[in-house]
Amino acid sequence: MKKIGVLTSGGDAPGMNAAIRAVVRKAIYHNIEIYGVKNGFQGLIDGNIEKMTIGSVGDIIQRGGTILRSARCDEFKYDQGQNKGIEQMKKHGIEGLIVIGGDGSFRGAQKLTEKGYPCIGIPGTIDNDIAGTDFTIGFDTALNTVIEAIDKIRDTASSHERTFMIEVMGRNAGDLALWAGLADGAESILIPEKRDEMNDIIDRLKRGQERGKKHSIIILAEGVGSAFDYADKIKETADLKTRVTVLGHIQRGGSPTASDRVLASRLGAQAVDLLLSGQAGKIAGIQNNQLVSHDISEVLAEKHTIDMNMYQLSKELSI
Ligand code: F6P
Repeated sequence: MKKIGVLTSGGDAPGMNAAIRAVVRKAIYHNIEIYGVKNGFQGLIDGNIEKMTIGSVGDIIQRGGTILRSARCDEFKYDQGQNKGIEQMKKHGIEGLIVIGGDGSFRGAQKLTEKGYPCIGIPGTIDNDIAGTDFTIGFDTALNTVIEAIDKIRDTASSHERTFMIEVMGRNAGDLALWAGLADGAESILIPEKRDEMNDIIDRLKRGQERGKKHSIIILAEGVGSAFDYADKIKETADLKTRVTVLGHIQRGGSPTASDRVLASRLGAQAVDLLLSGQAGKIAGIQNNQLVSHDISEVLAEKHTIDMNMYQLSKELSI
């Protein structure tokens, strides 16, 4: 293999730039030409492809977002779009592709692999919802952004003796909510993996009220539903002064944490090694701090799970 490409796809995540840097520099280290595809799979279809050099990725390890930009591309879900992408890869002589993104992006990578163009996926999403890796790039930074916001909300919640319902991202996964809840000592955490908790939340709030507690923080993962609806239920049932904060896209921005930069550097380099050693249709991951790889098909087939011990712990510590 002499020429490979790299793209970022789906929702961006802090640390994607550090991953791009690692891919580019590791490829150059192995004397491989490396091409950056702009705007995800849409850029592949459009031939928005540029050769990258060591200098192209200078001064980006600390930057949020992605210098290659990202997009969600419906056209690439279909044969026609994939074939257009393959034509562009042929035109540029690109023999393999590294795709940094989430599960939707890996479906595209899998399709290209099946059509004879080897791809390796790198998990980059704040949701931490990819099986086969303990952590995805961006999760740690998003978590720290959430914590910083909750700490601030707690100040005003305490001054005004209010209950705050804080909605965090995560799509269908509760990792961001669970980790943030544990890290911030939230009174309750609502996650999609454990939906039947409303009565328990009300009981906890009431118990807190009885022993004189004046403010509470409830964290709700967006996959559970709207924070406004849940806040209304609490208002109706527990007669508490309730406010809602939806943190939104602030969670996707910002300079990546050291942990995300290191993870991105390790996974980026590993993805290049996998591609150059003839592997295809794999996802680079990290499990028990060891670099691993798994078939994309297996990763996509596996249901995302949450660490229920952590969930139980969060309950025990917020009695
Ligand atoms: O997958 C990352 C993510 O931020 C999810 O947490 C969220 O549900 C979604 O993307 C938002 O997507 P968009 O930026 O397209 O609104």
